[in-house]
Amino acid sequence: NPRGPLYERIGADALARLVDRFYARVAAHPELAPLFPADLALTAEKQLAFLTGFLGGPPLYHERFGNPRLRARHLPFPITPARAQAWLGCMEAALRASPEIDVADANEMLAALARVAVHMVNTPAETP
Ligand code: HEM
Repeated sequence: NPRGPLYERIGADALARLVDRFYARVAAHPELAPLFPADLALTAEKQLAFLTGFLGGPPLYHERFGNPRLRARHLPFPITPARAQAWLGCMEAALRASPEIDVADANEMLAALARVAVHMVNTPAETP
């Protein structure tokens, strides 16, 4: 990317605040909260480490926790298309609530995450 990695444009501090805002929304979301542990501190720490590398910063997740194997790690959780949309919705809301992140950068990050989120879907849509 000619404008440099998203990680450098967003910055470590803004990314950490974004992750906190994201999990506050996840914890309040009726479709997502039941999947997560009550204490989200370690989850948030891992996500921050992962996103740092994912956005072109240092590979902190790999260094601390090894290969992310994201799809395999999500298999214990029933992730429907609706839950993937909800996850992305929480991220979008967290980005919109982060004035320190440029709108173009936020949109680029959201698009990159949307491409990953579809691969986490492991459970069909619930049929009425
Ligand atoms: C962990 C849900 C998408 C990255 C988790 C956990 C849940 C979850 C329930 C376990 C939390 C814990 O026990 O600490 C979901 C749902 C998604 C989604 C419902 C909807 C599509 C994503 C995406 C990414 C991601 C798109 C990356 C871009 C991670 C990471 C962890 C994690 C890095 C921590 C893995 C570890 O334990 O080391 N997710 N996730 N997730 N998720 Fe997701």
